Amino acid sequence: MGHLSVREIIARPLRGRYNSVRYRFLTLPSQRTRLVWYRLSGRSWIDFYRDYMDKNVAQLNERPISDTYRNAAKDHLDVLKELGLRPGHRVLDVGCGILRTALYLIPYIGPGNYIGTEISPERVARGRKLLLDPSGISPQAYKTVIINSNELHELTGTQLFDYIWANSVFTHMPFSDVRALLRAAKSLLKEEGQFVFTYTAGEHVAQTKIKDFSYPEAIFRKECEAAGFKYEVLTQFKHLTDFGHPRTRLVRLVKVEPV
Ligand SMILES: C[S@@+](CC[C@H](N)C(=O)[O-])C[C@H]1O[C@@H](n2cnc3c(N)ncnc32)[C@H](O)[C@@H]1O
Repeated sequence: MGHLSVREIIARPLRGRYNSVRYRFLTLPSQRTRLVWYRLSGRSWIDFYRDYMDKNVAQLNERPISDTYRNAAKDHLDVLKELGLRPGHRVLDVGCGILRTALYLIPYIGPGNYIGTEISPERVARGRKLLLDPSGISPQAYKTVIINSNELHELTGTQLFDYIWANSVFTHMPFSDVRALLRAAKSLLKEEGQFVFTYTAGEHVAQTKIKDFSYPEAIFRKECEAAGFKYEVLTQFKHLTDFGHPRTRLVRLVKVEPV
């Protein structure tokens, strides 16, 4: 405390848990107001978050994708292989973003076996470039679907999946959306299939920043079970970059037979 400047002594409590006075008192309130406006005008969380994600696309297109971010997705393939993924399996990548997971998955499972869903067309467009150059993965080898709700009606009639993967997606989802996605995933998964995903655990149900949600483990687990799944936290992958944060939970769901 002895070495703190006066400015720091004043700013620290004002920052609170947000680490930024500006974010806490300007950005966050303006984002919250915007979200209320979306809600009042009959638009969903997905509508709000899509616009939020698409807005930073100019930056996304200008900046090269960092090697660290891209390479971390190789771990996604390794996790799924460890859990039994094999060539020829069908994978649904929920919230595929800029398709960094697809970069490693498609060459392994083979063409025609990967579908990625996204809410942000701009992120998918960026991802398609990433797959083509320098990896030469042609658009014919995979499918992407822009979704409008977590009920995933856009995938009705699709062949079922061996694995559903959702990295850092529940992390950005209000509870009603979590509930809808769990139920949709169950109907899209083969009987012996696995749904593997991350979420952020917290003491309370909380929207910590405008796009960051956390859930107590007991509540999240109960919701998965209510959707008809057996819930298992996978702790053996904690050493990997994307799953090492103390509050990140990497979870595997398998279907349980109704009794
Ligand atoms: C943190 S990024 C992770 C992207 C990707 N899973 C990865 O690991 O590279 C979250 C992505 O999920 C997308 N997203 C958020 N909610 C979604 C939803 N309900 N359905 C599909 N995509 C969603 C966002 O647009 C964003 O691209």
